Amino acid sequence: MFEGFANVWTPVTLARRLKAGAPLAVTLAGEKLVFFRGADGTAGALLDRCPHRGVALSLGKVKDGCLECPFHAWQFEPGGACAHVPLNPDAKRERLFATALPTREAGGLLWVYTAPVKQAPHELVVPETLTRPGLARTYLELEWNAHWSRAMENMLDSPHVPFLHEKTIGRFVRPYLKRDSSMEIGWEDTSYGAKLSSIIDGDSSRDAGFLEFYRPNMMVLTIPIPKQTFRMHSLCVPAEQNRVRMVIVGARSFATLGLLNPFFNWSNRRIANEDRAVVESSFPVEVPPAADERSVRTDKATLQFRRYYFETLKPSTA
Ligand code: FES
Ligand SMILES: [Fe+2]
Repeated sequence: MFEGFANVWTPVTLARRLKAGAPLAVTLAGEKLVFFRGADGTAGALLDRCPHRGVALSLGKVKDGCLECPFHAWQFEPGGACAHVPLNPDAKRERLFATALPTREAGGLLWVYTAPVKQAPHELVVPETLTRPGLARTYLELEWNAHWSRAMENMLDSPHVPFLHEKTIGRFVRPYLKRDSSMEIGWEDTSYGAKLSSIIDGDSSRDAGFLEFYRPNMMVLTIPIPKQTFRMHSLCVPAEQNRVRMVIVGARSFATLGLLNPFFNWSNRRIANEDRAVVESSFPVEVPPAADERSVRTDKATLQFRRYYFETLKPSTA
């Protein structure tokens, strides 16, 4: 289950997609999941497969805080417990549970732990700018025909910014880039992932922003604006082998009028589309072992990710 993506907390999709009273079917790393809200509104996630005869639970309905299978109307609680088996009042319901995943709703997103355990061995870590009150936030969800590992490396890759994004975010860097300019990539391990820096020609004042990596699949870009907060959170959610859900959440402490959100989303979508074209063209689809591609010094961050990918997420193929 969740091969190559097991035992991690991951964002799955925007929480606003999950309405009370209706199940939401979502694919995560090749597994079909169904989310629904219990009687108190708390979100739960089950494998989208009834333990009775394998039917998709997402075809059923939410009733009294339970998800009811469309076939024989067994009912399940968000934690997987079987609450009702019609025509079988004597059924041993404690044996008839559905498979549930630890689930959280935080920062406008739905998260799950990718293992069917009662309790995740560690708690979810969410960047504080996803939850801090007083910030304006924009939410964008896009689907790319790419493997999530290629999308994630793209997000951690600073050296492409002045070139691929020369008309957008890269235009601030281009004017002082010389043919013999040199970039130094810093990677500092943290409890949640890493802090990255990218300094051109030794001048840190020209660093247009610094990146953080939140394992397994989030990049946070902090754009330095004096006395303000401006951050982009880019989440690369594996859907299927060659399909990644890109969730982009912007957070800002200025121009907080909701009226301006479409402008910020328009800009984020434009930048993401620049990345999309190259990420979707990458071959092989999934990142290969480092020795299979040629790399240089400024590939430090993507090589660090690749090490984590093969050592932790896919140890069997390392
Ligand atoms: S298949 Fe779901 S209740 Fe029978
Ligand atoms: Fe990019």
